[in-house]
Amino acid sequence: MEKSAKLFDLTGKKAVVTGGSIGIGRGYATALAMAGADVAIVNRDEKTGAKTAAELAETYGIDSFCIPCDVTDPDQVNSMMDEAVKRLGRLDIAVNNAGIALLGADENVPPEDWKKVMDVNVSGMFYCCQAAGRVFIRQGNGGKIVNTASMSARICNCNASYNASKAAVVQLTRMLAAEWGQYNINVNCLSPSYILTPMHASSPLKLRERIRELTPLGHVQRVEDLYGPLIFLASEASNYVTGTELLVDGGHTLNSWLVPLKRALPPRVSPQEEVVQLKHDLDLLGVSYDENGINEALHPNMAEAFGAMFGD
Ligand SMILES: NC(=O)c1ccc[n+]([C@@H]2O[C@H](COP(=O)([O-])OP(=O)(O)OC[C@H]3O[C@@H](n4cnc5c(N)ncnc54)[C@H](O)[C@@H]3O)[C@@H](O)[C@H]2O)c1
Repeated sequence: MEKSAKLFDLTGKKAVVTGGSIGIGRGYATALAMAGADVAIVNRDEKTGAKTAAELAETYGIDSFCIPCDVTDPDQVNSMMDEAVKRLGRLDIAVNNAGIALLGADENVPPEDWKKVMDVNVSGMFYCCQAAGRVFIRQGNGGKIVNTASMSARICNCNASYNASKAAVVQLTRMLAAEWGQYNINVNCLSPSYILTPMHASSPLKLRERIRELTPLGHVQRVEDLYGPLIFLASEASNYVTGTELLVDGGHTLNSWLVPLKRALPPRVSPQEEVVQLKHDLDLLGVSYDENGINEALHPNMAEAFGAMFGD
């Protein structure tokens, strides 16, 4: 193996990915498996998690299994981590990715919705970091923690609960990085832009076109666009990087309001390629793909809201 490739090699590393059965988490689990790591998929939905684990094991020849867990329950998180370490033998990489968005105009958001989002995106994220941090400290050999934040930590695009929860992820990442550097634990976060996962399955074609128009690299982000950034943060290549938010957004948040975005070349990714992983996720969930991008069965509220803004 070339020396530089070795920097990114994860052969034999042991990883846990929360929310790893579909969407961005399945993408992260795939990237880790491609680089050679064994991966525990942590998810509320065991059936889908088990399907993804079986697929990764077969495709990449690694060990993969699903551990059911609701990240909002610290007891479940601690037992999940015990089981992961027992089955994997140790832990090297923890990817904390489970997250939700509940849409709604802030003047009408019920307190239960606010609490649900904070519970999963902030408290659940913290419990998972804490459980991984304890394992790494006990093992005495460092470790890599990668949290999923979002460009929503820095722009205003969803609602107060989601955007504030993602800003909290960035700052909790920074604090833990400062505290745990002494144990050689790197704590970083990745901030994607809009990706067509089941979370974002209700996105009418006009909305997708608008995202392309407002993104210098010209296509809607794919889960595959996160493979390299995740492998970087999970591998030796990032040993001196900690407390960072790695923004992966094709330039979307550059906010080049006055600079007309034009294209000299076609984007690297076509609209058909943008939805390859979404179709795979919907297949795993047993939901059929809607060519108009509405997918009402998954997110009726989102379908209605985006339909009103961008539908025909
Ligand atoms: N899709 C996007 O455009 C986008 C952009 C930026 C950031 N993100 C973030 O990326 C992460 C993944 O998003 P996605 O688009 O893949 O979403 P998704 O809804 O497609 O998948 C989320 C996964 O998290 C799991 N999950 C949710 N709540 C859980 C809980 N309490 N305990 C355990 N597992 C739970 C779900 O079962 C699912 O597997 C989230 O943190 C999200 O906020 C998404």
